[in-house]
Amino acid sequence: MKGMVIFTSKYGSTEQYARWIGEETGFPVIDLKKDKNIMIDDARIIVIGGWILASKLTSRSWIIKNWDRIKDRKVILFSASGEEPNEKMKRTILEQSLPPHIRDGISYYPLYGRFIPERLNIGHRIMTGAASKLFGGDPLVRKMMAGFDGVKKENIKSIIEAIRKR
Ligand SMILES: Cc1cc2nc3c(=O)[nH]c(=O)nc-3n(C[C@H](O)[C@H](O)[C@H](O)COP(=O)(O)O)c2cc1C
Repeated sequence: MKGMVIFTSKYGSTEQYARWIGEETGFPVIDLKKDKNIMIDDARIIVIGGWILASKLTSRSWIIKNWDRIKDRKVILFSASGEEPNEKMKRTILEQSLPPHIRDGISYYPLYGRFIPERLNIGHRIMTGAASKLFGGDPLVRKMMAGFDGVKKENIKSIIEAIRKR
């Protein structure tokens, strides 16, 4: 079965997951930031990864813009986030990122990401610093600001199973 993995990543966790999925499936792995005209060709499975920024999926505009080209393929979406994946966040992220007709046509797998405060660029430092002041009592904000790494290869297991299922 032909397929491809498309991703966008700022600090490497989404890219790491995309590369592991590429290794397991043999699919080419494409960075959205480097390739502006992605050829879908005869790929029957499109895996799309993005990270969560202010409760939204960073790959959402590419998906919305390209939906007509990919909607008749098997579309698998994954994300890397600060929040540990759970059903409630899965629903919230989907609802805030994609319109209903697209939500209904994809399978979404949120994965646990990585957050190292010392590595943030200046814009993200200011943003997370402000969030930390405003929502300092929030457990997710406190945990993120302390730094964490939840990226593990075993997290892609369900995605690989979904790709292999006909
Ligand atoms: C500015 C900023 C905002 C973020 N907002 C959220 C958020 O709203 N919810 C969440 O779960 N994680 C949030 N995160 C955590 C990232 O989604 C997480 O660190 C992810 O693994 C980063 O992906 P990357 O390593 O591929 O860039 C945020 C991270 C940054 C830097």
